[in-house]
Amino acid sequence: MSDNMESHAYDILVIGSGGAGLRAAIAAAEAGATVAVLGKSLLGKAHTVMAEGGVAASLGNLDPADGWETHFYDTMRSGHFINNYKTVEVFAKEAPERVLELEYWGAVFDRTPEGKIMQRPFGAHTFRRLCHVGDRTGKELIRTLEQKIFTVNVDVFQEITATKLFTDNGRVAGAIAYYREDGHFALFSAKAVVIATGGWGKSYKVTSNSWESTGDGAALAFEAGAELIDMEMVQFHPTGMVWPPGVRGVLVTEGVRGEGGLLRNSEGERFMEKYDPQRMELSSRDVVSRSIYKEVQAGRGTPHGGAWLDITHRGPAYIKRKLPGMYEQFMALADVDITKTKFEVGPTIHYTMGGLKVDPLSCATNVPGLFAAGECAAGLHGANRLGGNSLSDILVFGKRAGDGAVEFVKGHEGTPKIDDSEVQAEIDRVLRPFSSENGENPYALHEQLQEIMATHAGISRTGPDLEQGLQKLLELKERARNMAVPGSRVFNPGWHTVQDVHNMITLCEAIIRGAIERKESRGAQWRLDHPDELEEYGKINFVHKLEDGEVKTYTSPVPEMPAELKELFNLGAAPGIAKSGKKE
Ligand code: FUM
Repeated sequence: MSDNMESHAYDILVIGSGGAGLRAAIAAAEAGATVAVLGKSLLGKAHTVMAEGGVAASLGNLDPADGWETHFYDTMRSGHFINNYKTVEVFAKEAPERVLELEYWGAVFDRTPEGKIMQRPFGAHTFRRLCHVGDRTGKELIRTLEQKIFTVNVDVFQEITATKLFTDNGRVAGAIAYYREDGHFALFSAKAVVIATGGWGKSYKVTSNSWESTGDGAALAFEAGAELIDMEMVQFHPTGMVWPPGVRGVLVTEGVRGEGGLLRNSEGERFMEKYDPQRMELSSRDVVSRSIYKEVQAGRGTPHGGAWLDITHRGPAYIKRKLPGMYEQFMALADVDITKTKFEVGPTIHYTMGGLKVDPLSCATNVPGLFAAGECAAGLHGANRLGGNSLSDILVFGKRAGDGAVEFVKGHEGTPKIDDSEVQAEIDRVLRPFSSENGENPYALHEQLQEIMATHAGISRTGPDLEQGLQKLLELKERARNMAVPGSRVFNPGWHTVQDVHNMITLCEAIIRGAIERKESRGAQWRLDHPDELEEYGKINFVHKLEDGEVKTYTSPVPEMPAELKELFNLGAAPGIAKSGKKE
């Protein structure tokens, strides 16, 4: 066993210190459990901050006709009905309470003149629903949860990477992790584990995601026996920066369009008129991303291959007040003053709708004692996520996962055991790149993975392209069994990349396999060889399991909505909107 390995024991181990992880930890600690949170980076530095434009909740502060039913309707429609309706129902009903709780804990939202939380329009939300703090909502959410976590009894471990989950007779028993600073190991035994490590956007080169988004928790859970679902659904946010090259992919919040920003092609046309004349720039993300892509393909793109976004008509004072982050971002990174001129934007990988299959109420995976919440879990967003739903997702299901883990611990006696020999085997595996002969360079493999994903499983897909991508990925997987790094465990980013590449390859295989099987176009899955959305595929989700080390893909039926919820879709218009298209 490693010379200086730390050993810890908790009731509940939360892996991931973004919004979902912190909210889960708060719930578990408030219920009296002993709790540890492991974060791969520093506390407060999570992808949560990239949901800039707002948190979606039907408070109805500006549009009193809004309610959970309309939020449910919008989320199901936008997910193209392969979401789990139970998950969506719980979400739409609880989001307002979670946002108000956050306000009570100190989140400083923008205000209406009457002092209520301000809400802005966002793509494919029927009403003004996005509670926001300028364009820094995710940051304020994390700040508030971070402040709250110090008032409850939670131990936070920062800059630590979990590499394996252990099980005891099928029940989760804990995890091993190493400190990124000097590489020493720490073993965490736990009675229940919550995975909240976010998505795997770094599998693609042009992405809004930062270095942490490599899908660690989802891959670890998958290897421990948990199932993945809807993996083919990977979201392109329509507006990332496209210029200069070093910042390509950096997020340009949907808040710009929410505040009235207009998209135009190189000929000056508001091209969304052709693709969604009703919702225009505020159509759903899959539609706007595809529309920009089509304009560029047709030769009507901007000089660097995007579309123009223009908000100058709102005036400098308004822009600087409502979109201060965007103003500063473009000034600092592109030397562009968005109060004076239009700017270039284009699709960027932003979010993974697929993930661990969980129970809609408790967030339990199929591995006893293992829970998941936030972007690493699936069921809420289906084939396409609505902007702002990620922040309410992490609040609603972060709390539910924490509560679910506490209930599990109460209902299960004893502490599961971690086998020493399994720990030693994992330490040996993680340290192998230091002694590997002629091993592969992890950075080169990461680049090749990103190339495969962009070329073969990008915004538009075809069967032959995906099949070719799968072959390339399987070859890469083989090569990745032998990665090598020079140097020692101290401050060694190449070594960290070894773990990341391993995790991303695992998840990307499921993405491609799911995309091959789904022979239709639906939401984020755009198959040029199967351009229509087909009824039979609306009834199934693709589920992946690891069997004898191989990724196997199955189907499971989409849960059928009860009659009273189906009724919402028979009205001919969103709840709260008359058939005339006017608010009731
Ligand atoms: O555009 C944005 O501000 C992103 C929001 C989200 O992904 O929820």
